[in-house]
Amino acid sequence: MCGIVGYAGEKNNAWEVLLKGLKRLEYRGYDSCGIAIESSKGELFLDRVKGRVEALSEKISNKKYKNISAGIAHTRWATHGVPNEENAHPHTDCDGSIVIVHNGIIENYIEIKNELKDHNFKSDTDTEVIVHLIEDNIKKLNKGGKSNRLEMLHPIFFQAFLNTLNKLKGSFAIAVIWNKVPGVILAARRFSPLVIGKGEGENFLSSDVAGFLEYTNNVYFMDDDEIAFIDKNNIVFFDFNGKKKNKDIKKIDWDIKMAEKGGYKHFMLKEIHEQEMGFENTIARRVLPVGEYILNKEINLTIEEIKNFSSIQFIACGTAYHAAYVGKYLFEKLGIKSDIDLASEFPQRAKIIDKKALVIAISQSGETADTLEAIRSAKKNGNKIFAITNTVGSTISRESDYVIYTHCGPEIAVASTKAFTAQLAALYVLALHFSYIKGNLLITKAREFAEELLEIPKLIKKTLECEEYVKEIVDKFEDRNDYLFIARGINYPIALEGALKLKEISYLHAEGYAAGEMKHGPIAIISDGMPVVAIATTQTELDLIKGNIEETKARGGKVIAIADEDSKKFIRPDFYIKIPKVSEYFAPVLTVIPLQLFAYYTALKRGRDIDKPRNLAKSVTVR
Ligand code: G6P
Repeated sequence: MCGIVGYAGEKNNAWEVLLKGLKRLEYRGYDSCGIAIESSKGELFLDRVKGRVEALSEKISNKKYKNISAGIAHTRWATHGVPNEENAHPHTDCDGSIVIVHNGIIENYIEIKNELKDHNFKSDTDTEVIVHLIEDNIKKLNKGGKSNRLEMLHPIFFQAFLNTLNKLKGSFAIAVIWNKVPGVILAARRFSPLVIGKGEGENFLSSDVAGFLEYTNNVYFMDDDEIAFIDKNNIVFFDFNGKKKNKDIKKIDWDIKMAEKGGYKHFMLKEIHEQEMGFENTIARRVLPVGEYILNKEINLTIEEIKNFSSIQFIACGTAYHAAYVGKYLFEKLGIKSDIDLASEFPQRAKIIDKKALVIAISQSGETADTLEAIRSAKKNGNKIFAITNTVGSTISRESDYVIYTHCGPEIAVASTKAFTAQLAALYVLALHFSYIKGNLLITKAREFAEELLEIPKLIKKTLECEEYVKEIVDKFEDRNDYLFIARGINYPIALEGALKLKEISYLHAEGYAAGEMKHGPIAIISDGMPVVAIATTQTELDLIKGNIEETKARGGKVIAIADEDSKKFIRPDFYIKIPKVSEYFAPVLTVIPLQLFAYYTALKRGRDIDKPRNLAKSVTVR
């Protein structure tokens, strides 16, 4: 995964600019990191550490850099080579004059390495071959005389970079500097995200806008197979044939404050508390108080097209997959046939999907490699793609036919919370819109649905009042290492999400199960004192889960129920977390909240690194 940042300009504290950028990108990987600073005289300063950006910051805090012209930096999530200083980026060519940072995987690195036998490789990474290949290409071009084709930049550097890119297979977002052309950064992208920020007398690059949002919100989103030439005054784009390209600049309306903790101990807790805002912003202007909705103006999907698609095919990964799973139940309850696949499993069956099915891809980052691959395979099959994402300009948003954004602001904690409920908000808007147009929901019912939807943000706030009680429950289970989450129907994906959240940040064993499956296996693991979280909100769910609760208690298990105020008369759990009463459709938005808090406080109690759990990364851009 990894995060990269770059700076072209003369700020003496350029290293701080880069470290701040890296800190904001740490969600992408955090096992090692490094920085390279270049002076206008061509001096290069390079530092790397195993560990977090803080360690790098300490290592270079006493250094005095002067006459800065550019810099690049990297935070790593290891794919090739263990996390240590030698494998940390930046990597250099044989004599240390060309320096590179890279996010992605070079698939043909072994072949390239074999061709570069006389080079001195210092790491086990795939990345290092790129910089040696550039070195090799520079040598070859120097022999053959200089090309004048691209007069505005150093032609050999550019041509060598171009030749190198055309030899690489795999995915990459790359930034490279060469001390013979101080102040110039060459960058390129294929499949891995890369954005360029335009400043005044300085320019930036980053894996996502959070890396430089403090300095500029004027952004170019790079497409696949594009090169950017960047110096303090210029940003010029080219394709992989070296032909100049024009690109539009976009203004991002995120505020840097949104990417800071704002008094909370962790981003995750802050983001849990931002869910009222995220939900509200996502439905705002899309559902009007009178119950009218105006989605047609926002998306370019005509009434005819909506009427014509035969069904929905959801694809997503991780938490977004659980949102999609709620979407499947929701759309089907509103009379629209829906199917769901994990994005990583989808490509192999893409060919048999009905071509008239609308594919809905959900992704917070908009960059998840498996989701992207699933989208591409569905497009190949002839399906139209509708994306729900939180990231304007992301690859998924650009490769989809239609897109609506969730508006919950940047999500920094690796474990997703506010993006999940915002994804549900987007799904409610879509479900309402589609089922009304398809004639499954009559106008009065559509109005009732819309009116209730508009009330949900307030109820999210009310649900968060359970926080203290959740903490008390967590204390009761401080010695337990196994947890079971069960539910039925539209709450079943919430059982999956509750288990995932706990696993991700507390590293405990947790399983989410459809309550009906209890007897087919999970009941065997129930032992004295084992916590079982049971979620039920409708009468049918309560009637059925009652049995599971009693069976758990009879075997010594302890039941934590998540249900609404009215259910007390039907079930007898050991702990009872109440959520406000809502109609079945909306229950998942509320039932998930105590589970997010449960995971958070369990992880806190065990001293885990909540925002950056081990082995995980927020944006998974490798398959
Ligand atoms: C990673 C993250 C999860 C996220 C999943 C899908 O596993 O750690 O929090 O749900 O990727 O990410 P996406 O950006 O596609 O929603």
